[in-house]
Amino acid sequence: MENLLSVRDLSSGYAARSLGGFGRRIEKQVLYDINLEMGPGEIFGLVGESGCGKTTLGRCILGLLDYRGDVYIDGLRQGRGADRREMAKRVQAVFQDPAASLNPAWRVGWILEEPLRINNMGSGPERRKRVDEVLELVGLDPSYKGRRAHELSVGQKQRICIGCALMLGPKLIIADEAVSSLDVSVGAQVLNLFRELRQNLALGMLFISHNLNQVYYLCDRIAVMREGRIIEQGRAEDVYLNPRQPYTRALLAAAP
Ligand SMILES: Nc1ncnc2c1ncn2[C@@H]1O[C@H](COP(=O)(O)OP(=O)(O)O)[C@@H](O)[C@H]1O
Ligand SMILES: [Mg+2]
Repeated sequence: MENLLSVRDLSSGYAARSLGGFGRRIEKQVLYDINLEMGPGEIFGLVGESGCGKTTLGRCILGLLDYRGDVYIDGLRQGRGADRREMAKRVQAVFQDPAASLNPAWRVGWILEEPLRINNMGSGPERRKRVDEVLELVGLDPSYKGRRAHELSVGQKQRICIGCALMLGPKLIIADEAVSSLDVSVGAQVLNLFRELRQNLALGMLFISHNLNQVYYLCDRIAVMREGRIIEQGRAEDVYLNPRQPYTRALLAAAP
C-alpha cells in the first residue's frame, strides 16, 4: 500500500543574516535527518517541547519552507516546483488560533467557499452545495452559512477552520496545536470531531502538539521530537505506557 506521507532524510532551517559578515545568509538549522511515514487514514502524533521544530516540519510538509531531503504526499513530491493546486487537494492545515485565520467580517459561507474560488473550482451552486456538505461534516447546521465569523464562539471558529481545510477533499491534514488554545471541554469536542472525520472520510492527520495526553488520546502512532531530531517513534500505547528514551519519560512526567 502506498504511503500517504513519506518524509526522508529531511533537514531544514531558516536563513539568518550574520551581523558582521556583509549580510551573508547563514542557515540556522532547525531540523536534522527527519524520517517518518504515515499510512492512509492514519492519525500520527508529533510531540515535543516548544521550540523543538514541530511547526517547522509542518511547514516543510505544507510546502511553505525549503528543505533538503524528500517529502512525498500520496506519491507526489512536495517542495520547490511542486504543482500547488494538486498539493492543495492533497494536504491542508489547521492552526492554533482560529480567530487569526478567519476574516471576522466575512460570512461563514463565503469563508468556506474561498478555497474553491482561489482554485477556480466548481460553479456557484456547486460551491454552495459543498459548503453545506462540509458544514455537516464539522457538526454545524446549514444556517451557519449566513453568520459572520466574529459572531461565533472559539470552538465554532475552529470548526470553520477545519471546514476550510476539508473543502478540497484532502487526504492529509496537518493540525498544528489545533486544540491547544481551546478550553478543555471545547478541545475534547474538537478531538472527537477529528476522530469522526477519520472514520467518515479516511482522513489522515499529522497531529502536532506539545500535549502528550491529547496525542495519546487521539493518535495511532507517535513520534517524539527533541532539538530538531526524532528520538523515538512507535505505536501510541508503546510510547506512552512504555517509553524507551529517558527524555520521553521526562516529558510524560511533566505532563499534567
Ligand atoms: N521564521 C523563523 N525565523 C527564524 N527562526 C525561526 C523561525 N520560526 C521558528 N524559528 C526557530 O526555529 C526553532 C523551531 O521552532 P518551531 O518549529 O516553531 O518549534 P515548535 O513548533 O516545536 O515550537 C526555534 O528555535 C525557533 O526560534
Ligand atoms: Mg509550533
